Amino acid sequence: MREKIIAGNWKMNKLPNETIAFFEEIIPFISNSKNEIVICVPYTDLFYALLSVQGTKIKIGAQNMHWEEKGAYTGEISPQMLKAIGVEYVIIGHSERRKHFSETDENVNKKIKAAHNVGLIPILCIGETLEDNEAGKTKEILINQIKLDLKDLTNDQIESTIIAYEPIWAIGTGKTATKEYANKTIKWIREELANIYGKESADKVIIQYGGSIKPENSKELFEMPDIDGGLVGGASLKAEEFAKIVNYDK
Ligand code: PGA
Repeated sequence: MREKIIAGNWKMNKLPNETIAFFEEIIPFISNSKNEIVICVPYTDLFYALLSVQGTKIKIGAQNMHWEEKGAYTGEISPQMLKAIGVEYVIIGHSERRKHFSETDENVNKKIKAAHNVGLIPILCIGETLEDNEAGKTKEILINQIKLDLKDLTNDQIESTIIAYEPIWAIGTGKTATKEYANKTIKWIREELANIYGKESADKVIIQYGGSIKPENSKELFEMPDIDGGLVGGASLKAEEFAKIVNYDK
């Protein structure tokens, strides 16, 4: 049985004082959850978040990084820098980075490998646009992203990669995929992983759903057999809402 991993993606939100207040509020409500909990915060909040969750089961993630260890890359943060302060997860290839910051599949692949090289767990985001979806190209797009983004990974690396299936038309739109659609699509992703890495490895990969998850729809989504938790944007900013999502099984 794969565990459920519920991750928050704060995007470009919250100042340090808001970060501290969030954790103070949420910790009592989620500390005895049996689900894995990860919150991916802006770089400037990492230190405060890491201090706030000390002694709890909550893990902290970043939302991007460079693939090089160090060098002349003004404004960038390396995998080693994240690892050194205690970060354990990192979102890679979010659709907002692909759209606004020209993140390519090639760079995503380098980042996934760089994360594994230092022992960070990458949360790879893949998903189709509304246009692709309406043209019936979802499966093709996802297979292509899997092939390019996860190119030349070892079996150990693939088994410890988290994939977040995030249909772009569902992100921040309030339009959630139905549980049947999300489950079916995640099954396709696992089938493609099995084609490349074998069934045994594919069965170990955590594949989350992401896109307008809220307390009202988290239970039905997370109870689907192929959905191993979620990546939550907007609803992870409010402690009360995110606690309800984490506690969907209570
Ligand atoms: P949303 O964002 O939950 O606000 O739709 C999800 C994401 O971008 O990861």
